[in-house]
Amino acid sequence: MIGAMLVGGFGTRLRPLTITTPKPMLPLVNTPFLEIELMHLKEHGVDEVVLSTGYLPAVFDEYFGDGSALGMRIVYVTEDKPLGTCGAIKNVERHLGDGPVIICNGDILTDLDIGALVEFHRSRGATVTITLTPVEDPTAYGLVPLDDEGRIKEFLEKPTWDQVVTNLINAGTYVMDPAVLEQVPPDTEYSFERQLFPDLLARGAPMYGFPSDAYWLDLGTPQKYLSAHHDILAGHIKVPLKGNEVAEGVIAGEGCDIDGSALLRGPSLLGDRAAIGPGARVGTSTCLGNGVTLRAGARVDGSVIMDGADIGEDAAVEGSIIGRNTTLGPGVRVADGSVLGDNIRAGGDNEFLKGIRVWPSTDIEAGKIKF
Ligand code: GDD
Ligand code: MG
Repeated sequence: MIGAMLVGGFGTRLRPLTITTPKPMLPLVNTPFLEIELMHLKEHGVDEVVLSTGYLPAVFDEYFGDGSALGMRIVYVTEDKPLGTCGAIKNVERHLGDGPVIICNGDILTDLDIGALVEFHRSRGATVTITLTPVEDPTAYGLVPLDDEGRIKEFLEKPTWDQVVTNLINAGTYVMDPAVLEQVPPDTEYSFERQLFPDLLARGAPMYGFPSDAYWLDLGTPQKYLSAHHDILAGHIKVPLKGNEVAEGVIAGEGCDIDGSALLRGPSLLGDRAAIGPGARVGTSTCLGNGVTLRAGARVDGSVIMDGADIGEDAAVEGSIIGRNTTLGPGVRVADGSVLGDNIRAGGDNEFLKGIRVWPSTDIEAGKIKF
């Protein structure tokens, strides 16, 4: 089966991490997030995927090539300018064949049973079937009220609270008859959520909702990015972790150097060649990338530390994200969902608190920031 995935967005809410890496290529438990999504598609028989890229397109191609390493066929189509969700799929129409296709937003972590979704779509004779998931606050999503037969009554993108009549929202995975794209203008910015779906409904096309209680998370913000790590490490969704168990619930990759006096608490993951110094502590729900160093007495808790980062003596990182090759001097503190981009050099005793975000490649003198 053929799938198309939208991976062209700027990932604005995940800046500064997405200044250097497009959102779908950010590491999730030390694997590019998109690789996890592609393996999920493949498991369900979707082995030909068209990636609709726009922002930092080369990063995708460099990593996945033609897809053969994953046992898939991957094709890339890059937009000159953002065409919107539907315009982007119109732009890859020539690769979609004429059977029903799977369309995915590129920022969703899920273990959805795609086979069951396709089966549902066929059995209803639907034009489009939209997977739905329950959420507490539907106002950040597309609201999808259904009638008693499961037919979609309305599609309300980013509704206001007074429009909220259900907790079911668009989960960002569709099955679609590609013929619906005939009515979409080429090379024009066009939205599924605000244009095509409301349009099809107005014309009476059979559109169905497929409510699902599968694991579901939109990885759009630093908090969600951390939650995705915590959920995978806690086993709420099955994603393979690379390495062997070195302590209860602690998985470590190859070539790690862990001092005998270091404290490791699971569930947590250490990448290849992680170096954990004397008295350093890896707390629960922590993910260290490949080649990460924790110097003597450093503590990391509930955080994501990306490849090559170096956490100084007695430094502490709590519930935060540290980008690739960033260096923290001695005694630095990072907490409260703060995000430091790639290649930052922060001298000793700086404090990055209250969700502060620091641009990549910034050099900060010792003791400069108490935020
Ligand atoms: N190629 C391309 N071109 N991709 C795009 C473009 C574009 O112009 N605009 C957005 N995308 C991609 C993003 O990279 C992302 O993977 C996906 O389309 C959805 O865009 P978001 O910006 O993440 O949208 P959202 O999260 O606010 O809302 C969407 O997803 C929700 C579920 O997470 C909507 O589909 C909502 O209805 C839905 O509930
Ligand atoms: Mg999103």
